[in-house]
Amino acid sequence: MKEPKQLSVSAIQNGTVIDHIPAKNLFKVIHILGLDKFDHQITFGTNLESKKLGKKAIIKIADKYFENADINRIALVAPDAKLNIINDYEVVEKKVVEVPDYITGIAKCMNPKCITNFEQVKTRFRVVSKKNVTLKCLYCEKITDQENMFII
Ligand code: CTP
Ligand code: ZN
Repeated sequence: MKEPKQLSVSAIQNGTVIDHIPAKNLFKVIHILGLDKFDHQITFGTNLESKKLGKKAIIKIADKYFENADINRIALVAPDAKLNIINDYEVVEKKVVEVPDYITGIAKCMNPKCITNFEQVKTRFRVVSKKNVTLKCLYCEKITDQENMFII
């Protein structure tokens, strides 16, 4: 017998559902999108079962629709995230996140001598590989690879 489909987090009427976030990065996603400063209704669930990710998190933001450029900022911490645009309780659009060509902030430059590590300058990188995300610092030109990536 098939189990009835139950939502662990209530459906929303209008807004955006960000699904398939690795559970360990939920709070990084919240921080990157600045959700802690939103006054929209936000619900989330974490450590939910996922066949693909092991444990996943989901965030539902009522009455909010993101620009692609803003949402793509989460690609570093939630590369498999799926966005569902909800309109009158229906999923009207599904989007995936894309690793952007340039990244401002979010990651730390791994070069200890880089100016971004000892002055109040936002990091800026060109993305040199999108598969295993690899970043090239626009200040010191050093490469920060996945293994050494530290999210600010
Ligand atoms: N959802 C929601 N409120 C709605 C409609 C959908 O919160 N009014 C959520 C669902 O809980 C789900 C996501 O939006 O997490 C996508 O919904 P749907 O496409 O119906 O689910 P699935 O087919 O399971 O999505 P997928 O397999 O693409 O992840
Ligand atoms: Zn640097």
